[in-house]
Amino acid sequence: MGLWIGVHLLAAAFWVGGMYFAHRCLRPAAELHLTPPLRLVLWRGVLRRFFSRVWMAIAALLISGYMMVFIYLGGFANLGLHVNLMQALGWLMIGLYLHIYFGPYRPFKAALNEKDFAAAGVQLAKIRKIVGINLVLGLVTMLLGATGRYWAF
Ligand code: HEM
Repeated sequence: MGLWIGVHLLAAAFWVGGMYFAHRCLRPAAELHLTPPLRLVLWRGVLRRFFSRVWMAIAALLISGYMMVFIYLGGFANLGLHVNLMQALGWLMIGLYLHIYFGPYRPFKAALNEKDFAAAGVQLAKIRKIVGINLVLGLVTMLLGATGRYWAF
């Protein structure tokens, strides 16, 4: 259990911490100090690197989460409320991430390749909004996961 919870915690910290840094630190600073073309090109590089690692974090979260469920916690029938809520929120977060990746992220890159900065900015605003939602969901999910064993039934 210790190994899997370690993997799980690191993956959650990476994904949620990365969203916090991007949304609450990098975005406001870039908006203040960079002109739109530079800012958008910066985001293309940041998102390419971050998203490739989010895939790994999602795989690690799912594998470690369901290993704990089936090997140590006795399967779906025996789960505490906090793990069920965590699964529901986790799948919602994954759905929103897929929506970003296969939705606005593609036209964002295409518009930048065409040097259509206005259109790229519109797509980036959509990505920002969904990442903001996923950040809140991620923080709630981490709280549930880490505190649930003390209150869940
Ligand atoms: C989607 C499927 C998921 C499953 C099946 C799952 C399963 C689990 C299980 C079984 C535990 C141990 C609970 C306990 O011992 O009381 C756990 C803990 C935890 N989970 Fe998840 N989880 C999932 C998604 C997520 C997501 C998306 C996040 C955050 C982004 C997350 C964050 C955490 C955290 C922070 C802990 C506590 C780790 C610790 O105690 O140090 N989980 N999870």
